[in-house]
Amino acid sequence: MWADIVSQATQEEPALLRKNPDALLAQREDGLTALRFHDGHPIAHATLWHLADGWYELGTVWVARSHRGHDLSAELYRDLFRDHPERNILATTTNPASLRIGIRVGMRCVPFRALPASVWRETCCCPFAKTGSDDNVSACRQRESRCFVRVTEQTWWRLGQPAEIDFCALL
Ligand SMILES: CC(C)(COP(=O)(O)OP(=O)(O)OC[C@H]1O[C@@H](n2cnc3c(N)ncnc32)[C@H](O)[C@@H]1OP(=O)(O)O)[C@@H](O)C(=O)NCCC(=O)NCCS
Repeated sequence: MWADIVSQATQEEPALLRKNPDALLAQREDGLTALRFHDGHPIAHATLWHLADGWYELGTVWVARSHRGHDLSAELYRDLFRDHPERNILATTTNPASLRIGIRVGMRCVPFRALPASVWRETCCCPFAKTGSDDNVSACRQRESRCFVRVTEQTWWRLGQPAEIDFCALL
């Protein structure tokens, strides 16, 4: 079943948070998932995880190794942004390839402090080993040097068009 394969991928890919098949199935039933299949097998997956106060995080973005490099993940981003224009959507990453994909689909890179406090706290859930802090909102050694938050165009307008970060100059 597709959810078992995607769940397995979340255990094998270091950039992904582990997710169990039931959670992935529930996301799809709620209309929050974009998927692609090839010969009946899942080859690409992305979903919107609820964070707090009606905000969602684009996550569990995965493309099967055999299908990478064909812009499939950007297609999934576009599907989800088209289907959920009314939702506030963010994505965080330390992966330069993912940053470039976000630019291609029109996401805006903003400071974490532009997010509502509850949302910032919810998305910055990385472990001490990665951030060097038990309170990632107060201090995080990755923030805006390696880790960036992007929001959809509609979300950026709803936030009041905060100043954008030119992360290309920082990487
Ligand atoms: C990150 C990921 C979703 C990108 O998916 P994708 O559909 O291949 O994305 P793209 O086609 O836009 O390619 C992304 C980059 O990988 C490069 N690439 C090309 N062929 C590739 C291959 N066979 N394998 C890996 N990367 C490849 C592309 O050139 C591109 O680089 P660029 O941005 O400098 O042009 C995918 O590599 C993946 O599933 N990685 C593991 C999970 C992960 O890291 N998820 C993102 C967490 S933030």
